[in-house]
Amino acid sequence: MNETVELLKNRCSLRKYADKEISREHLDIILEMAMRAPTAGNMMPYSIIVVKDELMKDKLSRTCDNQPFIRNASVLLIFVADYQKWYDYYQINDVKKFCYENGRSFAGPSSAQLFLALEDALIASENAVIASESLGIGSCYIGDIMENYETHKELLNLPKYAFPVAMLCLGYYPEGYKKTKRDRFDEKYIVFSERYQKLNNEEIITMFADLDKRFPEKNSYNAKNFAQLHYAYKTNSDFSNEMERSINEVLKVWNDK
Ligand SMILES: Cc1cc2nc3c(=O)[nH]c(=O)nc-3n(C[C@H](O)[C@H](O)[C@H](O)COP(=O)(O)O)c2cc1C
Repeated sequence: MNETVELLKNRCSLRKYADKEISREHLDIILEMAMRAPTAGNMMPYSIIVVKDELMKDKLSRTCDNQPFIRNASVLLIFVADYQKWYDYYQINDVKKFCYENGRSFAGPSSAQLFLALEDALIASENAVIASESLGIGSCYIGDIMENYETHKELLNLPKYAFPVAMLCLGYYPEGYKKTKRDRFDEKYIVFSERYQKLNNEEIITMFADLDKRFPEKNSYNAKNFAQLHYAYKTNSDFSNEMERSINEVLKVWNDK
């Protein structure tokens, strides 16, 4: 197998970091590789915010669902879906007037553009993950950066058409660190040939059988099986509900033309 496949096969999320700053050289490579990612129309509708300040890391570790390990990362990279720059560019160049004079409509970024920007930002972030891993730097995504929109907007000085979709914690692997590879669902449940294949109940039951085996009978949610437990602690958790509220606020802003 080649080196890249080996690297992807062995990557795990890292939540414990060596007490060592990421070198300028390594950070430059990571950022350059993020920006080499494919990007719709070569537009790069995203921004990357590099956070090194200890106070800022501490604040983010609290606002992102209180995950203390975040503040121990050497660097945080926040990937922002960002159409502000393109719309400012349009504004500066009289695109609105041009539209008016030529029978075209002019509006702020559409939901489609938000989705494209999200795709772009996430593709760039994964390039950063892979480049980091190749340099001995582990990473962990933080989806909770999508929560608390108003707080993050102020903290990060975000303009109207900018939404932080992912945060990466980066840091060198601690000495002697032993990786734990987390299992994945079997390929037959994930990869379909030519068309989507809706799984029947029996297939769903076998797909989740390994997770069911790990169900702790004693749990604080009064759940009777793993599905009930998972729904309570993930899908319908406080953080998930906050994410829903936060994203709805973003959509209101984005759709207010
Ligand atoms: C979109 C996204 C959001 C995530 N958010 C968090 C998070 O907030 N906290 C955390 O500890 N891990 C987070 N993770 C890491 C996942 O828990 C991890 O990728 C998953 O458990 C599989 O483990 P592995 O990456 O080691 O293979 C996130 C991963 C993704 C892709």
